[in-house]
Amino acid sequence: MTSSRTPVVLGVESSCDETGFGLVSEGVLLGQGLASSASQHAQFGGVVPEIAARAHLEAVVPTLRIALDDAGVALPDITHVAVTSGPGLATAVHVGLAAAKSIAWSLDTPLYGVHHLAGHAAADTLEHGPLPDRSIVLIVSGGHTSILAVGDLVQDPIEHLGDTLDDAAGEAFDKVSRLLGLGYPGGPAISRAAADGDPAAFTFPRAMLRPGDAPYTFSFSGLKTAVARTVETLERAGEPVPVADIAASFEQAVVDVLVTKALRAVRERSLDTLVIVGGVAANARLREQAQRRCDEAGIALRVPPPRLCTDNGAMIAAVGDLLVRSGAGPSGLGIAADPSAVLHGAQLPLPR
Ligand code: KG4
Ligand code: ZN
Repeated sequence: MTSSRTPVVLGVESSCDETGFGLVSEGVLLGQGLASSASQHAQFGGVVPEIAARAHLEAVVPTLRIALDDAGVALPDITHVAVTSGPGLATAVHVGLAAAKSIAWSLDTPLYGVHHLAGHAAADTLEHGPLPDRSIVLIVSGGHTSILAVGDLVQDPIEHLGDTLDDAAGEAFDKVSRLLGLGYPGGPAISRAAADGDPAAFTFPRAMLRPGDAPYTFSFSGLKTAVARTVETLERAGEPVPVADIAASFEQAVVDVLVTKALRAVRERSLDTLVIVGGVAANARLREQAQRRCDEAGIALRVPPPRLCTDNGAMIAAVGDLLVRSGAGPSGLGIAADPSAVLHGAQLPLPR
């Protein structure tokens, strides 16, 4: 079953609307394939789980083929398989899990269940090499917004410093995009609209930044409501809605809160590295302003390139590769989907 060959780890991702396969060997991304069903969800303003699952089913084989060709790897060269087993949309996770099990079973290779959010953090290692011994990781995705204290990503427990009380940052982008009529997915649409806008045109609330507030907890639903009220008020008065200015001001409010809290965590833990990952880390304003404020504070900032920020299979392969090289035992073919898995460790289920 296991071999002394150089590991070639296949990563499988299907937790939301992206079907991703990636191949990683000893920290190096060999190649990947990615299919998205985003356009099929656009008319509904958000991901429809049943449509996502069906699209994964159709995309699995051709996308795996693209990844193998991109990497110049033949199916029998794969030594290990890693798969997102949670968190995510249950119907969607099941498709990738079934595919990964079939591949692992037919090739007689070990199978590792991976926590999707650990995958986001591992994506950065494919671009910038191993993480430092300790760092603060800000995860900003469509479903999660968390500040984590991370040591060895696959061996140490992951410490949650704070999460969001309501909407995730990406969810706020998606909802505000919908109410500005900019479509789904909202992040890139807001970002495009905001490019021509004035980020100081509207002063939207920056929640949870007062001295008595929980230092690492986020809340974005009030911000979304404030944008909705602004739009309603303008429409009722018969005035034009300055979409670019609202998009830029909203983006600025999100970025201010994210960067302020993440930097606070780095300082209070006396660390020197901040890692920002997840779909929202593709946002140009967030990347620019985090870089500027980290430079001012003497903190090293690591952000994966945008194509590795949004969901992909390479990031799951990266976790699998780290697990294999750390000597972790496989999760086995019996692993179940865990749609609401909390991030305590990179591997699922958590080894006892
Ligand atoms: O990490 P991800 O691909 O999927 C989840 O794990 O949720 O994140 C998707 C989220 C969506 O909410 C999307 O609107 C947001 O990331 N996003 C962005 C950008 N690109 C994607 N948000 C802001 N700016 C972007 N450029
Ligand atoms: Zn994700």
